[in-house]
Amino acid sequence: MRKPIIAGNWKMNKTPSEAKALVTELIPLVKDANCDVVVGVPAVNFAAVAEVIKGTNIKLGAQNMHWKESGAYTGELSAAMLKECGVEYVILGHSERRQYFGETDATVNLRTLAAVKAGLTPIICVGEKKEEREAGYTNALVAYQTLIALTGLTAEQVKNVVIAYEPVWAIGTGLTATDEQANETIGVIRAAIRGVYGDAADEVRIQYGGSMNPKNCKGLMAQPEIDGGLIGGASLKAPDFAQVVNFDK
Ligand code: 13P
Repeated sequence: MRKPIIAGNWKMNKTPSEAKALVTELIPLVKDANCDVVVGVPAVNFAAVAEVIKGTNIKLGAQNMHWKESGAYTGELSAAMLKECGVEYVILGHSERRQYFGETDATVNLRTLAAVKAGLTPIICVGEKKEEREAGYTNALVAYQTLIALTGLTAEQVKNVVIAYEPVWAIGTGLTATDEQANETIGVIRAAIRGVYGDAADEVRIQYGGSMNPKNCKGLMAQPEIDGGLIGGASLKAPDFAQVVNFDK
């Protein structure tokens, strides 16, 4: 059985004082969660959030990282920097990074390899755009994005990676994939992983992301292939995020 994982992706929201207030409110609301709980926060909030969540069941996540260990890469952060700040998870290849910041499948792969090497758990985002779904390319595309991202990892390493299936047309739009659509595409991703890494695929946790909220989380989480959620907008309000975390209660 795969342990569910619910992660918040705060994106470019919350200053350090606001971040502190949000996690302080969240702690008592999620303390009895049966899933792994992660908050993916802007890097300027690492210190404030790490201090508040110490000793709780909430884990710290980053939203990106560079693959080099150090050097002349202005504005970038290394895995070691994240680790020393208490970060355990790192979101990689989010569609917003692909769309606005030139992220490619090849650089997602480099980041994934560097994250795993450093002992961080990557949350690798894949997903199709609306026109790609309409053209019938969804399955091929998510399988390709996933396998490129994982290239160079051993089956043992793949087991610990988290994949987030985020249809781009469902992000921040209020449109969600139906429970069945999400389950089917996540099944395709798992089958692609199985094709290369065998039974390791059964241990990989694959989240759904895209307008997931307190209302639709139960239906999505009831699907057999869906192991969690990557939550944007609804992760910015503690009661809403807590309801998603407590989807099984
Ligand atoms: P929303 O939940 O706001 O649609 O964002 C989803 C997302 O992009 C999480 O990474």
